[in-house]
Amino acid sequence: MDEARFVTHLSGKRIVLGVTGSIAAYKAVSVLRTLRCAGASVSVVMTKAATKFVTPLTFEVLSGERVVTDLFDAHEPMAHLMIPERADVMLVAPATANFLARAALGLADDVLTTMLLSVRCPIIVAPAMDGDMWTHPSVVQHVQTLRSRGVVVLDPEVGPLASGQIAQGRLSEEPKIVAAVDSVLASRCDWQNEVVLVSAGPTQESIDPVRFLSNRSSGKMGYAIAAAAKARGAEVILVSGPSSLSLEPGITTVRVNTAAEMADALCRHFSTCTVLIMAAAVSDFRPKQSFVQKVKKQGKTDMVLELEATPDILAMLSARRTSQIMVGFAAETEHMVSHATDKLNAKGLDLIVANDVTQTGGGFGSDDNAAIILSARGEQRDLGLMSKRRLADEILTAVHELCRVRPCQKVSVE
Ligand code: CTP
Repeated sequence: MDEARFVTHLSGKRIVLGVTGSIAAYKAVSVLRTLRCAGASVSVVMTKAATKFVTPLTFEVLSGERVVTDLFDAHEPMAHLMIPERADVMLVAPATANFLARAALGLADDVLTTMLLSVRCPIIVAPAMDGDMWTHPSVVQHVQTLRSRGVVVLDPEVGPLASGQIAQGRLSEEPKIVAAVDSVLASRCDWQNEVVLVSAGPTQESIDPVRFLSNRSSGKMGYAIAAAAKARGAEVILVSGPSSLSLEPGITTVRVNTAAEMADALCRHFSTCTVLIMAAAVSDFRPKQSFVQKVKKQGKTDMVLELEATPDILAMLSARRTSQIMVGFAAETEHMVSHATDKLNAKGLDLIVANDVTQTGGGFGSDDNAAIILSARGEQRDLGLMSKRRLADEILTAVHELCRVRPCQKVSVE
């Protein structure tokens, strides 16, 4: 098959491959290889019955990742939540009649069905079973239920089955399965025409060679937005303050330290972006003087550090905007909505994401965030506590709703 055909949408994507207990389980090995060859990362999840047909080791070697088979695996205690969280698509191939029933009923009696309930990305299932089972009213009804919920169910093919019968029940051919994954991913590439400029992390303002002023930002929110925009097809430029997070392939990253450096980097790229998302926690003040040598104590009991304001990067870029959509963040400890609304108006933004940085389970350094999205048109969406990756997708979706009203255009460079 022509693997190159799939490079556009599969490359860099994260796929969860569920394998259930059918004789066709061996074909999932080949599906896995093709997905990997096309540049996707694949996390394999097997039901107990699937492991009777193919060993997890086979999938482990070919995927390069631990295979999840047990909801109670001590090594992956939250796998049922963590793995689907990062997935761009979930594929179950082969899917047995038993799996279809459990999925349709919303049972969560193993790791795979539990994942189905937490996953937010598109789901594709490729059933395989005996012909009489496929046409049984119970299976027909479960397939209908799944389709009505938006699950893509690939009809099995007609051909010789394990029972010797020739009927409809054979797992779809591998190119068909891979093409379905590709096409679902293509339809999710709703950011393909955007150039997104994202800022992330804190800035550090030097006092002397060993000390600086900074804040508690980890960069997780900005990095999650960059990754989500990339996964949805955008060209992404990330301007990152100091952060220990690893960079995603395919994202142009500019590393900076100070607010002034961040302002320079963003100004350089602003004219070519269609959307700016300013998730960085820029220091508002910097020392008026940065000492070349370490400041010594010299018996002092107190010390006054004179500070000056850094440039307000968002306000500066807002004054230069042409057709860019501009999104800011508001890190608040009280009066979230009113403070965020003031910033939205003062900085001339289209959207602002207000978050309470004091909330338990969210805020700086955490993997989660509770946010309210406010728009210049007066809309307000309270999103509650969710992972930063999920919030990133919510923000991108909100931006796109705006773009539908005022279409984003790539800005031409003179
Ligand atoms: N911001 C910026 N330049 C600055 C400070 C902040 O561009 N010098 C941006 C942030 O990246 C964020 C938005 O402005 O998108 C709001 O930042 P925030 O720290 O919440 O508010 P401030 O404007 O700094 O106001 P205050 O500190 O008084 O809350």
